[in-house]
Amino acid sequence: MSTTTTQGVKGEERDDFSKEESARLRLRSRRLLASLLEPLRARIAVTAVIVVISTAAQVAGPTLIAYGIDNALPALVKNNDWMPAIVVVGLYLVVGIVGAILMAQYTVIFARVSQSILFDLRKRLFLHTQRLSLEFHESYTSGRIISRQTSDLDSIRELFDSGINQLVQGLLYMVFTAIALVSLDAPSGLILGVALIPLVVLTRWFQTRSQKLFRSTRTTSARVIVQFVETMTGIRAVQAFRKEGRNEKQYGGYVEDYRKANSRVFQLFGTFDPGLVLIGNATLAAVVLFGAFRVIDGGLEVGALLAVALYAKRFFDPAEELAMFYNGYQSASAALEKISGVLEESPSVPDPVRPTDLWHAKGAIDFDDVEFAYNRDAIVLPEFELHVPAGQTIALVGSTGAGKSTLAKLIARFYDPSRGSVKLDGVDLRDLHPKDLRRAIVMVTQEAYLFSGSVADNIALGKPDATRDEIERAARAVGAHEFIVALPDGYDTDVNKRGGRVSAGQRQLLSFARAFIADPAVLILDEATASLDIPSERLVQEALQTLLSDRTALIIAHRLSTVAIADRVLVMEYGRIVEDGTPDDLISGTGRFAQLHAAWRDSLV
Ligand SMILES: Nc1ncnc2c1ncn2[C@@H]1O[C@H](COP(=O)(O)OP(=O)(O)OP(=O)(O)O)[C@@H](O)[C@H]1O
Ligand SMILES: [Mg+2]
Repeated sequence: MSTTTTQGVKGEERDDFSKEESARLRLRSRRLLASLLEPLRARIAVTAVIVVISTAAQVAGPTLIAYGIDNALPALVKNNDWMPAIVVVGLYLVVGIVGAILMAQYTVIFARVSQSILFDLRKRLFLHTQRLSLEFHESYTSGRIISRQTSDLDSIRELFDSGINQLVQGLLYMVFTAIALVSLDAPSGLILGVALIPLVVLTRWFQTRSQKLFRSTRTTSARVIVQFVETMTGIRAVQAFRKEGRNEKQYGGYVEDYRKANSRVFQLFGTFDPGLVLIGNATLAAVVLFGAFRVIDGGLEVGALLAVALYAKRFFDPAEELAMFYNGYQSASAALEKISGVLEESPSVPDPVRPTDLWHAKGAIDFDDVEFAYNRDAIVLPEFELHVPAGQTIALVGSTGAGKSTLAKLIARFYDPSRGSVKLDGVDLRDLHPKDLRRAIVMVTQEAYLFSGSVADNIALGKPDATRDEIERAARAVGAHEFIVALPDGYDTDVNKRGGRVSAGQRQLLSFARAFIADPAVLILDEATASLDIPSERLVQEALQTLLSDRTALIIAHRLSTVAIADRVLVMEYGRIVEDGTPDDLISGTGRFAQLHAAWRDSLV
């Protein structure tokens, strides 16, 4: 059905990838990176030129000083020749100023490039996640989806903010410095070359160790976030079942793991940083000592020695940053891998390539030889056949887990059948334009979700261009008008503000009004009246009777009072229709519905 085989996307967050998997993940994030960089090619090229020139300008300083001391100064003192000195000082100033200006430019342009990459990525991630089908959202926990938008994007941002520009500058700086050093004094270049050996060994050691440690900080921090989000999302259940104590213990354990992982990282830096300083100082001492002997012998000029010492000292400056970059790079690339995983998910309910037009749906529904399973091993609907003529009102009853909501979700195309087809007016739902589909079929469920905004906004969700009159008419029709006008600001009350909070039943009435105003050809109510008291339910039912007269309706309800307004009753068990007939026929028969109805009537007296 979908490409959800993507490793590490479904189920738990993983870290134990085989070689091939890792290669595939790298390829995937590289593709994503390339697509992000593509539109910025010109700007990146400009940035590259600027950074090369500005770094070269910075490195030129000591060489100019050497020339000044060894050539310009003697010329001035011995021959009273000012020219070389003026040229050197002038050049030094020009190089310094140009270097500084370009550096500023580089920082600004680089920030612009990285900001537009992040902007693009953030937007893509949101739009894509929103487009993914229900199947994805039901298996990808909310904690993980939040991590994608927050901590993952953050680690990429951090890499941009402090990492990459320093890496590029640092590497260039080292290369240019090495070139300048070698061309100024080859023996000192040789010493630096020898110093590279311990530097490389130390860095390699740091990299292999840190890779493991950073990975464990990431997984432990992800666990902390997931646990936090899950606890807070289910806070009602947590408090109702006094799960706080158990949570505290578990959360305490996770936080402790995270702390330990972090402290191991700091220990690692505690060895690495002094190691770098030691190598740097030893190299500087060797260069200065060896150079000093040659100055005494006359083999090296004083200015050259000064420049060489400056270069040798500065050479190791970026080493620490490069190592730090590795840290940021690791978490950013892991983050990019996870984000690319989400972005590569394709909706399991894809939009049609060439949609069929269905501007005015009549509302006939057909299930042709449908089989449906959420996952391969448990078939929920085996061989399902059903024809619902346009305009019919159907009551669907059956025990818990019989497959009623599944049937509803198939009609609303939250899922596609694994075999056969579901049709609206003879058109396969898979061929309908999503706009036509959503206009024609509306489902109201028990969980009436209210978005932040006013009550009126929430009703108008069903018809974005609705006038205040239409909104009020819809609210009156479902019996919501009275409680709405009693709210602090009536229809303009913010549903998230204190005082604007509405009860579960009132929320359901609002979602009814929302469906009413949408005026669909097919209306599905999945236990949509479950939170209403009997008078309110009766009111809604009266409203429904007029509302449903000219449209197809599927009403799922455990309260059999709903059945009264139905033209036809379907009884469902184990994913099959076991009884099908008018309410009167079924009640007067001897089947399952007759028993249910008798029991229900007895309970009323
Ligand atoms: N998202 C899902 N993933 C996997 N299995 C599911 C999913 N939703 C439902 N099921 C399974 O499908 C079967 C039918 O579920 P369904 O929600 O359609 O039942 P129902 O008739 O609506 O029950 P109820 O009256 O309790 O709402 C159940 O066995 C359930 O375990
Ligand atoms: Mg259900």
